[in-house]
Amino acid sequence: MAVQLGSIAPDFTQESTEGKIEFHKWIGDKWAVLFSHPKDFTPVCTTELGLVSKLKPQFEKRNCKVIALSVDDVASHKGWIGDIEDTQKTKMNFPILADPDRKVSTLYDMIHPQANDTLTVRSVFIIDPNKKVRATITYPASTGRNFDEILRVIDSLQLTDHHKVATPANWKDGDDCVIVPALSDADAKAKFPKGWKALRPYLRMTPQPNK
Ligand code: BEZ
Repeated sequence: MAVQLGSIAPDFTQESTEGKIEFHKWIGDKWAVLFSHPKDFTPVCTTELGLVSKLKPQFEKRNCKVIALSVDDVASHKGWIGDIEDTQKTKMNFPILADPDRKVSTLYDMIHPQANDTLTVRSVFIIDPNKKVRATITYPASTGRNFDEILRVIDSLQLTDHHKVATPANWKDGDDCVIVPALSDADAKAKFPKGWKALRPYLRMTPQPNK
């Protein structure tokens, strides 16, 4: 069964490059991004892990931890980290889960047999501090992920959790937002003192409320 938005992220205990991880305990009171890699010593994955280590301050700014998964074992991961650090000119600074028994990849439905029988696809799970799955994104092995997009989704989730807005196409932090349709104009007046532009009664654009 696929992991659905709004469901509690399956908990697990599994070895990683930073020791045993009890997933919910490891998340603690933070947000988390869990993302899978098809295999160790593969080129696209090498660039992704290097990039995420460089972006870690951006995730931390959003109170968010990151954790990768690849189906190989810890010894293999540790050998691969040397290559990641050398080729991507970075220092790995977050754990890579080992999953030789496919425990976590099965729990999270990361293996799509019609794409590949044994390797995971590139899954992304964004999980909130209540351990709820808030967003999932799936890419094929051949396409490296856009981690700016993942940061953008976290920005949107954190904003819309606290304000009665949604974020329009290609929104990025600081852009105008849409007022949720469920909010009446009368209630919107109190919540959005900067006002809004109504393109249609259901399409009301307002400056980002927390800026
Ligand atoms: C890669 O990470 O480069 C990769 C992994 C599996 C299949 C294709 C590419």
